[in-house]
Amino acid sequence: FKAADAANRLLAWYDRHHRDLPWRVSPPMARDGVVADPYHVWLSEVMLQQTTVQAVKPYFHRFLSLWPKVTDLAAADTEEVMKAWAGLGYYARARNLKKCAEAVAGNHQGVFPDTEEGLKALPGIGDYTAAAVAAIAFNRQSAVLDGNVERVVSRLHAIDTPLPTAKPQMRALVAKMTPADRPGDFAQGMMDLGATICTPKRPACALCPFNDICTALKTADPETFPRKAAR
Ligand code: ADE
Repeated sequence: FKAADAANRLLAWYDRHHRDLPWRVSPPMARDGVVADPYHVWLSEVMLQQTTVQAVKPYFHRFLSLWPKVTDLAAADTEEVMKAWAGLGYYARARNLKKCAEAVAGNHQGVFPDTEEGLKALPGIGDYTAAAVAAIAFNRQSAVLDGNVERVVSRLHAIDTPLPTAKPQMRALVAKMTPADRPGDFAQGMMDLGATICTPKRPACALCPFNDICTALKTADPETFPRKAAR
């Protein structure tokens, strides 16, 4: 199959079935190239690492009511931020969150860098978060790869190499599929598909927009992808 055809199917599926999530709202009076509020997207992506969408929602709203702008979070008392984070777990993430907000406020006049490279230079922002914010907030053609996306591509292509060795191959396949016009929707569509249809156990292949081009479904048991390294 052609990567562009697969992208179009995924986007058509996303248009019908996407989840309405609070950080996907486009901002009023955005600067050029901004399609979602970068502060909201960054905050949600940091919270969503190791935590489910449902669990994140109330925390996301609480943070924004306490600290409406990244400069407010930068100026906040660290103890207050830790308190607001309590329950999300992985407290190093909250410390990095604060450090990153301080860097955006102190070194970038409160404006998030709008490239993957610029974002990656901020404290606590790794490959995943930089790519996700670049694609979702700034409409950059970045390849976004998280656990959900890894599962979808590993099945679509029946990738026999286990993780983490297969990661570069998966990233290249996602890069090839990512469309120039809607990279953020594509990334979030892949994540939604992985979270709701292409699930680890008992995937709902009958409802999947890729079910006639999925190699794992055709030739093997989709549940066995991604392959696990022998241990
Ligand atoms: N998981 C992490 N980021 C996400 C997003 N933007 N949409 C859906 N699921 C996600």
